[in-house]
Formats: sequence, structure tokens, C-alpha cells
Amino acid sequence: MSDSETVLLVGGGGREHAIARALTADPACDLYACASNRNPGIASLAARFETIAETAAADVVDYATDVDADLAVIGPESALEAGVADALDEAGVYTFGPNADAARIETDKAFQREFMDSASIPGCPDFAVFEDTAAACEYIDAYDGDLAVKPAGLTGGKGVKVIGDQVSPEEAKTYLREHDYDRVVLEERLVGEEFTVQAFVANGDVRPTPAIQDHKRAYEGDEGPNTGGMGSYSDAAPELPFMTAQDYADAVEILEATVEALPEYKGVLYGQFMLTADGPKVVEFNARFGDPEAMNTLPVLDTSLLDVLTAARDGASLPQLAFAGQATVCKYAVPDGYPTDPDSGAKIAVDEDSVDAAAAGSDGDALLFYASVDERSDGLYTTTSRSFAVVGIADSIAVAEQRAEDALAAAGDGLRVRHDVGKPELLQRRIDHMADLRGE
Ligand code: AMP
Ligand code: GLY
Repeated sequence: MSDSETVLLVGGGGREHAIARALTADPACDLYACASNRNPGIASLAARFETIAETAAADVVDYATDVDADLAVIGPESALEAGVADALDEAGVYTFGPNADAARIETDKAFQREFMDSASIPGCPDFAVFEDTAAACEYIDAYDGDLAVKPAGLTGGKGVKVIGDQVSPEEAKTYLREHDYDRVVLEERLVGEEFTVQAFVANGDVRPTPAIQDHKRAYEGDEGPNTGGMGSYSDAAPELPFMTAQDYADAVEILEATVEALPEYKGVLYGQFMLTADGPKVVEFNARFGDPEAMNTLPVLDTSLLDVLTAARDGASLPQLAFAGQATVCKYAVPDGYPTDPDSGAKIAVDEDSVDAAAAGSDGDALLFYASVDERSDGLYTTTSRSFAVVGIADSIAVAEQRAEDALAAAGDGLRVRHDVGKPELLQRRIDHMADLRGE
């Protein structure tokens, strides 16, 4: 076991509640946390919780210095982009999370594609970068095939429009003209099934975790606008039911090639892949844990998260990771109207007992992670983002899904859930889709 470590966690969502839970499972961790919203789950695990904006680098550094933090871990990309990791590192607090320059692999989609191209990272789609809206529209007219239209900067996963899926070429051009983005990436539309592989990265080591499928669309059956992610599942094996072990290995190889080209990278490297008929292609990289994906990964990580972070800080080789070999299903409860017109500031009730009851069943486990709720003196209120998530954990995805559904009895009025995540019919659709694409 490690010596006692004072760890500062930045961020107040479901992802950060999962990080807090994993860290404090190690008795050697003394946790301090800050975020712009008071997350009751994190607050109950931390020695202290301060309400500080995730992007307020100087205030985060003051807090870290005040509590004499030994290391820090950053959840959200907004903090990375704002240089919070740079500021903490400069103040002598080792931060597990890339500096703002390295985080451009997520925060600047034009940089991301140009980097992949120049470093010959496998899995890069055909792309072009435009600073001029008129030239981008001409490219759409001339291109033989469907394109994905991506503003280069951060949009919370909500700025991308895919021609032939969400929009027509005319609608894509109208979208570009209306927003007149400084820079936009136009790239080949990838067709297949999406999956995520996250890896812990530091000191040149890459430690991958099991694949996950997130559900970005707001409504059941993959309808509606894109969200930050409505729910996600992982299997007992590293790959998902619609993938082969080789597909997973190919994705890991892409992450390894990326780190080889970014030897100083530290933090989580998150690969969002499209499994196409020609194997995995990169949809995007993120420079942090996914949300919801962290809630799938960390509960089944048997290795101490604190040991991974301290090895990273100490310049040591990262420990080999052990996983429980169980499936997980995560479902978010979101405010009515999310993501287009979320009902923020609504009072909600969360019944923790129903989660405990779901966990008390004979097979599997259930966990509750608070997300973007605000704890006030008289109760819990919604924000404009996702409210809380439940995670079912069991030997199979089917049973994990049932535990998640049992736990969802915790959700009171005013919240919405995508119940189809992890259901057998949805899993079968994914398998059939891949078999169809591969001509099997
Ligand atoms: P991103 O913000 O890059 O994660 O994009 C949001 C979503 O848009 C992804 O999860 C995909 O569903 C979709 N997307 C992004 N790029 C492409 C692409 N080249 N082809 C098809 N879909 C894409
Ligand atoms: N779940 C997608 C993300 O965290 O970006």
C-alpha cells in the first residue's frame, strides 16, 4: 500500500464522482475536490469540497497549495484547455492530465487530424481543414460522398453534423454559414459501430482499459440531437459483442502509436473509434476520461487508481492493470428538455435506497453517481447538464442492464432516461449491423 497522499480532484460530474470513488477505495488517499457545482457524491467522499470553477486556474492552484496537495487529477476538458494542468504543474503539484498544448489532441480537431496525418497514425479518415466558410461549402458541393462537418473547437460533442445521417448537404452548408466558424474540419463520413477505448498514459507507458459503447443521441433508437452521452456499456471481455479481439487490439495499437508520437503525454488518452468494414478508424481523441465511460471503467478496475497516479508522478512504470472481468451498464438521468432546452434549476429527488436495494439482489451490483446536480441547503437541483447516473455491474451485459434498471427507481419526476442502452435488442442490432457491413 502507498503512503498517505493528498489528492486534488478537479470537476463535479459523474465522471469525477467515479474517480473520487476509485481513489478513496484506497485508504491511503486523502481526497480534496473542487468544481463549479457542489456534487453531493464527491462531497461525501472528500475531506473538503470547494466551489471553484474548473477553468479558474489561479483559484485551483491556491486551493491545491492551501491543502498541500501531493498530486492532482483533472476530469473535464474545459480545465485542460484553460491550462489548469500547466498551472498546477508549475506550482509543483504533479497533475495527471495533459498540459493545454498536448490537450489540443482533443480541444482542436484540426490539430488532431493534422497531427495524425503528419505522424502517420493509422485509422485517420480523409479530411480537409477550412478557415473560409465559402471554400468549405464548395468542398461539400464537390465531394463525392458524405462528409462529417466539425467545428475545430470544443462543442461538448454537440457541434458535429454528419451529412447523410443528421443533415443534408444543403443543411450542412446552412449550418456553416449561420455559425461562420473560424476553422472547420470536413472529413469522410465513417460508417460502422462506435466504441471507446481509454488508456492510462504516463512516462511513455500505455495501459488500455476495456472497450465501451456510449450512446450520444438523446432519444431511444439513436434518434434526436447529440448529447454528452446518455449511457454506455462494457462487457466482461475487453472487446464488445459486435467486435473481435483483433478489433480491440487494433484500437490499442492506434493509441500506442499516438503516445509514441507524443512521448511527454500524461493523463488518460481516450480513443473514440468507428469500427468500419475496414477495421477501427479514429472519430476523435479525448485528453481525459469519458463521461459516462469513466463510470463503466473505474468500478471494475481492481488495481488501485491511486497507485497508477503515484507511479505516473514518480516517473515509474505504470502498474499492469487488473480488471474484475464483469460487464457494466450505465444509464444517465437527465433534465427534461436536455440537451436542447434543459429544465435547469428544477428540484429533484434521488432515492439512494432504491440503488442499495438493486445492489442487494443475488446477482450483480448497482452504483449511483451524482453528476451535474447542485446541492443546496434545501435539496438537489438540476443544472443544464446530466443529473445522475446508475451503473449495473454483473457477469453479463444482460444482467448488468437489469441491475441498472432496478437502480433507476431512484429517479424522481422531471428526469429522462434512455432505457434502451444495454438491452438485448440493441446489442443484437449492433451485431447485425457489423455483420452486414462485413458481408458476413
Ligand atoms: P465528436 O465531437 O468528434 O465526438 O463527434 C460527435 C459524433 O459525431 C461522434 O460520436 C460520431 O457519432 C459523429 N462523427 C464524428 N466524426 C464522424 C465521421 N467522420 N463519420 C461519421 N460520424 C462522425
Ligand atoms: N462520452 C463522450 C465524452 O466523454 O466525450
